[in-house]
Amino acid sequence: MKLGIVDMELASANYVVRLDTLAKATGVDPNKYRFGLRQEAFSIPALDEDAVTLGATAAARVLERAGQEGIRTLIFATESGVDQSKSAGMFVHSLLGLSTAVRVIETKQACYAGTAALQLALGLVSRNPSERVLVVASDIARYAVASAGEPTQGAGAVAMIIGADPALLEIEPVSGIWSAHIDDFWRPNDLSTPLVDGERSMDAYLGAFTGAWEDYRARGGFELAEIDFFVHHQPFTKMAIKGHRRLVEHTGKNVEESRVEPSLNYTPYLGNCYTASLYIGLLSLLHFKRELSGKRIGCYSYGSGAEGEFFTGVVQPGYERFLHPNIAAQEIAGRTELSFEEYRDLHVAHERGSAVNYSNSRKTRAPYRFVGLCDGARVYADSTLPIVTGTWNVHEGH
Ligand code: CAA
Repeated sequence: MKLGIVDMELASANYVVRLDTLAKATGVDPNKYRFGLRQEAFSIPALDEDAVTLGATAAARVLERAGQEGIRTLIFATESGVDQSKSAGMFVHSLLGLSTAVRVIETKQACYAGTAALQLALGLVSRNPSERVLVVASDIARYAVASAGEPTQGAGAVAMIIGADPALLEIEPVSGIWSAHIDDFWRPNDLSTPLVDGERSMDAYLGAFTGAWEDYRARGGFELAEIDFFVHHQPFTKMAIKGHRRLVEHTGKNVEESRVEPSLNYTPYLGNCYTASLYIGLLSLLHFKRELSGKRIGCYSYGSGAEGEFFTGVVQPGYERFLHPNIAAQEIAGRTELSFEEYRDLHVAHERGSAVNYSNSRKTRAPYRFVGLCDGARVYADSTLPIVTGTWNVHEGH
């Protein structure tokens, strides 16, 4: 029985900052970003957007196409969680009107959590193939201003339906894993931006890659020559290339970069999307490379702290009918560009401190928005409707 990705879709945020704008304002050579990182721009959310609204938007798109039937589990993967206790998925469950007979959880292990969610979903579906699992990977990559990570910020979500007889990608059973405690990138509970040891993070990414590859091979995984295309976690586009070169060096096999390039068309414009990043790369490959039917794709997932996993999937016949590249194009082209000053003001405004009551005016063009905090509780709404919560009446424009 084949198990895998039945459908998948992405969403990004309301605003975009061009790296040429950031470079000019901060006195950096724009070529450092364009060629050194291979990044052009990053998405940044409006104040009424967060990981929940991005994830709900992506999920609504797949559910509109694939329906809710058979969905018994929603797994929300994020490192931009909005609560220490409640799963971000519970807000999505409410916004999408999912059945009460759906279990909802959140997974966390930095950018790797999306793949953890995928593997958990496959396990649930293999136990009962009539069930489907909604996996939502959603993140806001927000770094301190003037830090080395600032140009690698981004925001995006991917929602996937995992089930039997997948229309898009069969996920094959063998996977390779590598985990070790490493302080390369982490975010303590009281900080809104991560602490990063940039060089160590790149070393950890590369080391986890070869470690996961070795485990994959030891468990009977395919040889490099049997894998047609590759998608690697993309904290910035050049990192995926560095990873690929490390794999080539490690195995001593020649694997052309043309086998990883088709996966690199969205990240330069969206920036890092943490848990969603690998799957945004997968969508890029599916959208930009033709005639993939029957092709095997190797996927490397990495999460700081640190964990890597390498697995493969096979593209299913007729998969093209389930792709909607126009949505990705619109998500990228439809954003509002910010000046340097507007961007830095928004970065500061996202720092809400310890306020327990506030409401956000409507900015997002997405179908769901983060209305504000009411006595510390997060309030979300369908963007088109006013919302009444308890005694607190929040209308558009407040
Ligand atoms: N023209 C062209 N290229 C230039 C240039 C110029 N004028 N100036 C510099 N460059 C090149 C450099 O040669 C370098 O390229 P190579 O790596 O190929 O040699 C590149 O631009 C970057 O320059 P620096 O080495 O000076 O590095 P930096 O100070 O800009 O920091 C970084 C880079 C450490 C990745 C930083 O962006 C960062 O901290 N990012 C966040 C952490 C991160 O993304 N780590 C990746 C692995 S961790 C992970 O994957 C999990 C996750 O999602 C966070």
